[in-house]
Amino acid sequence: MLPTPRFTRMTRGKTHRTYTRAVLPPLDVDAAVLANHRLSGIYNILELDAPAIAERTGPGQFVMVKRALGQDPLLRRPFSVFEVLRDGDGTVRGLSLLSKAIGTVTRELFAIEPGDRIRCLGPLGRSFTLVNPPVAAWMVAGGVGLAPFATLAEQLRERGVETALFYGGRSADDLYRIPFFEQLGVRVVLTTEDGTRGEAGRVTVPLRRELAAAAAGRRPVQVYACGPTPMMRAVAELTATVGAEGRFGLEVSLEPVMGCGMGGCYSCVVPVTGNGSRFVRGCVDGPVFEGTRVAWADLT
Ligand SMILES: Cc1cc2nc3c(=O)[nH]c(=O)nc-3n(C[C@H](O)[C@H](O)[C@H](O)COP(=O)(O)OP(=O)(O)OC[C@H]3O[C@@H](n4cnc5c(N)ncnc54)[C@H](O)[C@@H]3O)c2cc1C
Ligand code: FES
Repeated sequence: MLPTPRFTRMTRGKTHRTYTRAVLPPLDVDAAVLANHRLSGIYNILELDAPAIAERTGPGQFVMVKRALGQDPLLRRPFSVFEVLRDGDGTVRGLSLLSKAIGTVTRELFAIEPGDRIRCLGPLGRSFTLVNPPVAAWMVAGGVGLAPFATLAEQLRERGVETALFYGGRSADDLYRIPFFEQLGVRVVLTTEDGTRGEAGRVTVPLRRELAAAAAGRRPVQVYACGPTPMMRAVAELTATVGAEGRFGLEVSLEPVMGCGMGGCYSCVVPVTGNGSRFVRGCVDGPVFEGTRVAWADLT
């Protein structure tokens, strides 16, 4: 069952309101597209008029979306809520999605125009667990795996948690919204496989180095990871081996194929550790899992 935390949001230094996020049923809305920011030939950020969903979304939760018109494709696709959008006075006006066009729905989301409508169901799934100082929070993102970290970074910084983002892509064209994180006071460490921005190589290279330094200095660190499965598997190995004293916590946001997003179809099963082979539904038990709970060898 989801926790029911009380938390206070701040926007531009002002405390606006306190929410109690209970286990509320998801909402299904026909949301107007407010804006479509095309960041490159395949990446875009879509702003949706869905304030009722945005207001109750915790960091790491997702929505199931597709275009409102037509039956093809039949099934919606899962997307992390990227940003909770607010007016200048802090009023929630909607949410945004960070999308990479790789298939039917993401190509439609790339082409869609303001005023068009999207079916949007959410918020769904389990949120990240927030830590408090003196624990440091390190987010590790690969490509579009950045999506769940904007809302997480906001809430961690509100708590005064020292926060870093290790953000890797194939090239500079895969890295977006870096000023957003820097303005929040997040330390950003960039890597690209082709060396066009930041350190050349995979994001796990600086992560390994900094985990080793944190282990030597006995600093507690909570790691959060989202990205391609091989990246998350590597991060799980690092937090288990470099921090062998159990100093490093890890939560990963997995991206299994999903049909319904609500626990009804079993298309999203994730192998977990336990007695023998066991599977749980990624949409309701996840998408956020403790790193030690995932049976990494069985995860495809
Ligand atoms: C919780 C969660 C959050 C996510 N957040 C985001 C996000 O913020 N941004 C984002 O861009 N993406 C996100 N994704 C991934 C996104 O939902 C999928 O990539 C989705 O399939 C894209 O839909 P599509 O119609 O464009 O592509 P699809 O037509 O669904 O195809 C996408 C790719 O998956 C393959 N594929 C399709 N079905 C299967 C299957 N049954 N088994 C194996 N491979 C298959 C296809 O070959 C293709 O390569 C998230 C996924 C999850 C589970
Ligand atoms: S997506 Fe249907 S049970 Fe998880």
